[in-house]
Parts: sequence; C-alpha cells; structure tokens
Amino acid sequence: MSSTPAPRVRPRRLRETPAIRRLVSETRLDPAELVLPVFVREGAAAPLPIASMPGVVQHSLDSLPQAIDEAAAVGVGGVMLFGVPAVRDARGSGAIDPDGILNLATRVAVEASAGRLVVQTDLCLDEFTDHGHCGVLDERGRVDNDATLERYTAMALAQARAGSELLGLSGMMDGQVAAVRDALDDAGHHDVSLLAYSAKYASAFYGPFRDAVESTLEGDRRTYQLDPGNRREGLREAMIDIDEGADVVMVKPAGSYLDVLADVAAASEVPVWAYQVSGEYAMIEAAAAHGWIDRKRAVVESVRSIRRAGADVVLTYWAVELAEWIRNGE
Ligand code: PBG
Repeated sequence: MSSTPAPRVRPRRLRETPAIRRLVSETRLDPAELVLPVFVREGAAAPLPIASMPGVVQHSLDSLPQAIDEAAAVGVGGVMLFGVPAVRDARGSGAIDPDGILNLATRVAVEASAGRLVVQTDLCLDEFTDHGHCGVLDERGRVDNDATLERYTAMALAQARAGSELLGLSGMMDGQVAAVRDALDDAGHHDVSLLAYSAKYASAFYGPFRDAVESTLEGDRRTYQLDPGNRREGLREAMIDIDEGADVVMVKPAGSYLDVLADVAAASEVPVWAYQVSGEYAMIEAAAAHGWIDRKRAVVESVRSIRRAGADVVLTYWAVELAEWIRNGE
C-alpha cells in the first residue's frame, strides 16, 4: 500500500467526459456577442483581398449587402464599418461628406441589415486624412485635440444621418465622448449609442489594419493612444468615458490586454467590449498557414479567453466563421 493518501479533492471528475465538460463550462460563446469589422473601399468594383489579413477583403458598395446578409444569417450581433476613401486631405473632409464612402456604406448596410444586426461605424479621422493621424494637426504638426473634436462632432452627425446606430469613437481625443454626445443630443439624435474605445493602446498589433485602410501614417500615435505598460490608466480612461456618457466602453487590443479588460469589467456600469485586432488575427492565420498551430482551436480559444476575461462582446474578423462553428455545436 502506498503511503500517499488518495486525494479527497478531485477536480478532474468534472473533466471526465465531453458531456460533463460542456455542463460545467463557465464561458460559452454566442454569435450574438460577436461583431464583424467590415472595410468598404471607395471606387472598388469588386472585393479586394488584404495581403496581411488572408480571408479579409475590402468590400465594394456592391458586395457589402451580401456580407451583411451572411453575418446576419449566422446570428452575428453587429458590424463595424470602416471606410477607405479614394482621396484624402489634411482635414479628413471625406468623413463628413454625406456622400463620403463610410456614410454611403452605412446607408447600404442599414438597408441590407433590415434590423437583423446593429450597424455601427468607426468615428475617427485616420482613414480620411492625408497624414494618417486620427485628428487634425496644428501649425507645428501636432494632433490638435480640441480642433479635432469639432471634426468628430460633424462626423458624428453625418454618421447619425446616414443611419448608424452606434458610433465607435476610436480616436482617443480627450473629451470626445462628451463632445459627440452633446452634438448628437442637440440635433435630436438621442437614440444613437456611443461606444468609446476607452483603453486603446498604442499597439504594434494594428499593423495589418493599416494595410487594410491603406494608411499613410508616418510616425506613431503615442501622443494620444495609451502606453502599453499602463494598466491603471486604462481603467481611468474607461471611467472618464462612462462619466462623459459612453453607452459602451472598449479595451483594445484584446489578447495582450486581458488584465486591463478584467479591471474595466469589474468596475464598469456599462457593457464592456473588446477588439481582437488585425495583428491578433494575422498571427494566428500565419501560424496556421504554416501548420504550426491548430487554426480552429486557436481561434476559439483566443475569443473564449477574451470573453472569460470580462468582455461582453468581441469584435473579431472571424465573427462569421466562428458563429458558424458555434451554431454547429463548437
Ligand atoms: C482607428 C482604428 C484603428 C483600428 C481600429 N480603429 C487603427 C489605429 O488606431 O491605428 C485598428 C483595428 C485593427 O487593428 O484591427 N480608426
């Protein structure tokens, strides 16, 4: 007889069979909690592949309705639209033009969705400025916070008029949530929700996205996006945005910032979303393409981990495929 007493506590009991594992699972995935980011390219005649994001395309206005349809058909909760304009200028005029690509795409998406999912729009100038920054510049070339707020409020009104139901404020300017809320309310758009990209870090993981929107940025966004080492500041930004009237707050990127996500989820009174960004997508796709990782398992695990850390909703480029897997009993 062994002198080691048999364990009294056996957590392995609840891992014995697929059925018991399913029963005790703490974090389930639901298509309704997924949001698909969608790029729409001005002047595109057909969908254009994005080299650094295999499987993701820049849609044309013509191909957009089918993409919305596919997402709605598998129960995806929403789409987040990004516009890729053909022409850019210093002040990002295309963002405010009612016939700018993002506003046109919004009208198309709202019609295609017919209420089946939530049509959301990125509210930021970087796709529309020739210098690629998220705001307008002052005479010394620095991003001018308060002058940018005026552009954001005009952009918000254009997006609301186009039918966007939820505006994703991703520019990281101080006071952007309050400024946009006031402008919308003054114009009677009380029903348009605000998603604040509150804890948005200056991350290398946005690399492929800059390809996707043909970004012209030189330099970096470190004067407005958060320093990756700062955890407390991420929580503070979320609290400020809730104070300013954000309906939803976001942590971004997701995978490398699960601690921030958990902090915000513990303290927030509003829903907390997370954005699994382009670099997170590209890393798994690239490793899988080499046969170095099990693609499906890695995708599911990465999104489940973001949910486990506290995200109510995940923006992910895999939203449609993942929704299909979930529906098939993943
Ligand atoms: C800014 C914006 C960015 C992303 C979403 N909104 C780019 C940036 O801040 O550089 C990145 C999303 C991704 O990498 O998937 N409009």
